[in-house]
This record gives sequence, structure tokens and C-alpha cells, in this order.
Amino acid sequence: MSAPLAPRFSPPPLIDWAGIRADFPLIAGQDLIYFDNAASSQKPKVMLQAMEEMLSHSYANVHRGVHSLSQKATDQYEAARKTVARFINAADEAEVVFTSGATDSINTIAFSFGEAHIQPGDEILLSGMEHHANIVPWQLMAQRKGAVIKAIPVLDNGSLNLESLDALMGPKTKLLSLVWVSNSLGTVNPIPYIVQKAHAYGIPVLVDAAQAAPHMPLDVQAIDCDFMVFSAHKMCGPTGLGVLYGKRALFENLPPYRGGGDMIDRVSFEKTTFQGLPFRFEAGTPHILGAIAFAAVLDYLSNIGLGHIEERERQLSHSLRSQLKADFPQIQLIGTAPDSVSVVSFLLKGHHPLDVGVLLDNQKVAVRTGHHCCQPLMDRFGIPGTVRASLAFYNTEEEIQRFLLALRKTIHLLR
Ligand code: ALA
Repeated sequence: MSAPLAPRFSPPPLIDWAGIRADFPLIAGQDLIYFDNAASSQKPKVMLQAMEEMLSHSYANVHRGVHSLSQKATDQYEAARKTVARFINAADEAEVVFTSGATDSINTIAFSFGEAHIQPGDEILLSGMEHHANIVPWQLMAQRKGAVIKAIPVLDNGSLNLESLDALMGPKTKLLSLVWVSNSLGTVNPIPYIVQKAHAYGIPVLVDAAQAAPHMPLDVQAIDCDFMVFSAHKMCGPTGLGVLYGKRALFENLPPYRGGGDMIDRVSFEKTTFQGLPFRFEAGTPHILGAIAFAAVLDYLSNIGLGHIEERERQLSHSLRSQLKADFPQIQLIGTAPDSVSVVSFLLKGHHPLDVGVLLDNQKVAVRTGHHCCQPLMDRFGIPGTVRASLAFYNTEEEIQRFLLALRKTIHLLR
């Protein structure tokens, strides 16, 4: 097994990107350069329309009423689950659980898998580039169960040290939970290769796809991961909604995380029995409206084509990175892995990222500054944080040029 090479560029597809930008009311025709898409992306009109349609014509609680309106809402909610299952190529829609976000999805597995499978001394393998959401839930579980957390080291260019995998994986390793795309560096990890490697040791893998799902096609069967998590709001969908995919064989035997309505089979004061997948993990009234609106957004993204989105964003990213490298000697790129998405982190030498962010904001440029919820990674590089420009398919080359001008002015002001 050898690590795959970075994909090559191919010519741009003929897609009406200007028309697509016009679908996003908050940015269409505005001065604002919104380069904070990794924190949360903007919403297309189809999402607003789906919400209005549902609230005006079919809103009721799901899975509870015999009345027609509840049946209608249930049908739409379950159709949304099917849309997600198709979008990620799950073998069965029962493998798709709606959560409140990627963080909630990871907490669910950390708790349930921990309860079912972790003994004192067992190891959970993470990596040095994880978001806090893929560290802290495992630490909480490890404290409860006496488990040990280990991390795959990060190289100077912001990629994972794949050569360390054999030393880190062994009979004590009970699960690998790994980010596909780093939210702070943009690095794309070779997930299919790593999953294959972990499986060779009998280790199940959870893939944190929160920053991958907005940028590239997902196929859980091709990747062969055991769990995958992502959030709707980072892929043009609503906040408060996430997805937890689990391969049936492992997922269906895990105990519930939260108790409440809808996840039970039968309740008495002596004993409760639980539903199977996916309802066992959806206690309480779910984010009905969010799931239905998200399905409309996924159809919208699928119509554009995730492959086209990936290609477009790679071009924007390549343009931004290469101009920063060529024309800005004062800028230090943090994360120069051979394969990355349109997330570009940098430092202006001698200046705090916050000062850069404020001066860019004064020029109507929205970027994120700080540690990006990745303090161990920042410690690895010995920095307090970075300035992060994260682009989506609706951003433009013209915005990149305006961003670079604003950056020049910022450098001048800070001099
Ligand atoms: N995890 C989000 C980010 O990277 C909030 O900005």
C-alpha cells in the first residue's frame, strides 16, 4: 500500500458560476468579500424556499401523529434522510442519523462506542490536526473508561506523518477518529489509504468530514469508513443539523447516547427497550425543518455537481495560494501539503493574526483569525493562531484580487 498522489488539475467545466452566485442573497451584488466559509457557508434561495414551503404547507411533528399533516411531515423528513443517504452513497438510509451537528455526531459515537467497546488501557488514535470537537469527546470518554489517547504527528508542511501509522496502530487501538480535511490548514488527508491501513489492523475508523463534505464528493462505501460525520451549515444548509453515518454492522449494536421520545420501543419503570437504526440515536423532536431544507440544498449542490464544485474551488485556491507565495514575501503560509482544499491559512510576519483580521474587516473582507479550535495544532507550529481565508464555489477570482489589494493595504497600515 502506498499513499496516493495529489489529484491533477483538469480544465474548468462550463458552468454559470455568476448565476450560481446570484442564488445566494446575502452575498449577491454585495461589496462584502466573504472568505469565512469554513466557519459557516452562505445559504442559497432554495433553502429559504424549502423552509417557507414546509412551514406554509406541511409542518407538524414527525413519527407521532396519525393525522395527515404529521404523516406528510414524516414523509418529507424521511425523504430527506434518503437524500442524505444518496448524497453520501450509504448502502441503507437507516445508516443515516440526524444530529445537531458534527460535534454532536462525534460525541454520540465517543459515548456509545466507549460504553460498548472500551476497557481500561485501550487506545483511541486521533491526529495532531484535529478540531477540538474530535479531541475533547474522546478525552471525556477516556477519563470515564480509563482509555489512552494517541495522535498521529503532523509534518512541517501540515500533512500527517503516515510513516508513523504502523507504530501507532496495534491490538490496543480500538478506534481511529480522523479529520479528512483540516479546518485550519486545508490539508486533505489520504483517507481511503488510511482507512485501509487501519482495517488491516482490525481498527474501525470514524471520518470527520465536516470540512470535506462542502468541497468534494462523498462516498462512504468507496472509502469504507465505519462512521462519518459532518454539519449541514458548512455546506450551505441550516445550522443545528448534522449527519452521523454508521456502517450497519458496527452501528446497530451500539447503545443509545441520549434517552427520550422516539428512540424507544417500550418503556416501563422497570425497563426500557430501544428502537433500531436510525431512531435509537434520534431522541426527542428532531430538526424537522432543517433536515427538509438540507435535502433541498443537497439536491441543489448535486445539480451543480460536487466534482465541479471541487474543481472550481481548487482553481480559486491555487490562484490565491500562488499569488500569496509569489507576491507577498511578508506572508508565511501555514500548511503547504501537496493536497489541500480552498482553506488558506497564513501569518503576516511580526503581526498578530487578530490585527490583520480587524484591518481586513475594515475593508469589508471577512476572514477568521485565531486558533480555529485547533490549539494542539497551533502548539505544534509554535504559533498563537493564523489568518484563515476559506473560499467556497460562489467566490470569484475578482474577489481574490480585491482580497489581495486589501491585504497589501493592511501590510502598509501595519508597517
Ligand atoms: N469549525 C469551524 C471553523 O473551522 C467553526 O471555523
